[in-house]
Amino acid sequence: MTRVIQPKQSIIPVVNAKIQRNDPCWCGSGKKYKKCHLKEDEVKRRFNLSSPNEQTVINRSEEFIQGMRETCQLAKNTLQMVADNIQIGITTNQINTWVHQYTLDHGAIPAPLNYKGFPKSTCTSINEVICHGIPDDTILKEGDIINVDVTCNLNGYFGDTSRTFLMGECSEDAKKICSVSEECLRRGIAAVKPYGRIGDIGAVIQEYAHSMNCSVVEKFVGHGIGKSFHEEPQVPHFGRKGNGPLIVPGMFFTIEPMINLGKKGVHILEDNWTAMTEDGKLSAQFEHTIFVTENGIEVMTE
Ligand code: MF3
Ligand code: CO
Ligand code: CO
Repeated sequence: MTRVIQPKQSIIPVVNAKIQRNDPCWCGSGKKYKKCHLKEDEVKRRFNLSSPNEQTVINRSEEFIQGMRETCQLAKNTLQMVADNIQIGITTNQINTWVHQYTLDHGAIPAPLNYKGFPKSTCTSINEVICHGIPDDTILKEGDIINVDVTCNLNGYFGDTSRTFLMGECSEDAKKICSVSEECLRRGIAAVKPYGRIGDIGAVIQEYAHSMNCSVVEKFVGHGIGKSFHEEPQVPHFGRKGNGPLIVPGMFFTIEPMINLGKKGVHILEDNWTAMTEDGKLSAQFEHTIFVTENGIEVMTE
């Protein structure tokens, strides 16, 4: 005689009876569900997010957003002032003085000055310098390309933007690397969607840069920004669609692709700042600070 083996009885209790809008929230706050986690749960359902440590929104006060608006506009205006004055024959020290004075005149502090020991108020990166060039006695000459990177600290809020300028008649290579890196920034910005992924940005940048036979610097990345200069998330300019941190409303971050005409390799000079292309070929960069809203994005430094 064989014994009948009884299937084990399910002991999983039924707990997923749907919580109603006016019920107390499941989190134990004592607030009604609709005043507490309802919206967040809806977003999570809509985007199939289950991971509890993925924040779906960063709540920013009006004061914070206004602070960011003002510092980003100042950074934009400072860079425009440089654009209006830059010319062949001046030194990068001259640009530094303009940026330094303009920033102080508008009640702000140039964020690079003394940042981790950086000795000047702006970064000036010529030709094969990728980023973090230190202003000095170098004279701008016809055919140079130069990135000027401005970061303001106004009332404790940081705004960060950069452009690469063409000095007079430039080579086809120089024109190309500037236009490719500007287009990389434009496409990167267009790829930012609330509830997308940070990897979506790098994916489109990398795809375009490679299609133009250029390379993407991986050693330096864009960054969250706000009441500090550099914060989470890191924003690589390479990657895969759907990878990386969730993009959520309330995020402020920069996109700042550094695009090389040759290979992506970086060499840092003895000054511990100046980042050059390893192969000595040209590099260019453009940067904006972005704000993610519920419906889209705002380019804060435009
Ligand atoms: N502005 C640069 C960036 O885009 C950082 C410069 S760091 C400094 O992140 F120390 F050189 F200022
Ligand atoms: Co930046
Ligand atoms: Co910058």
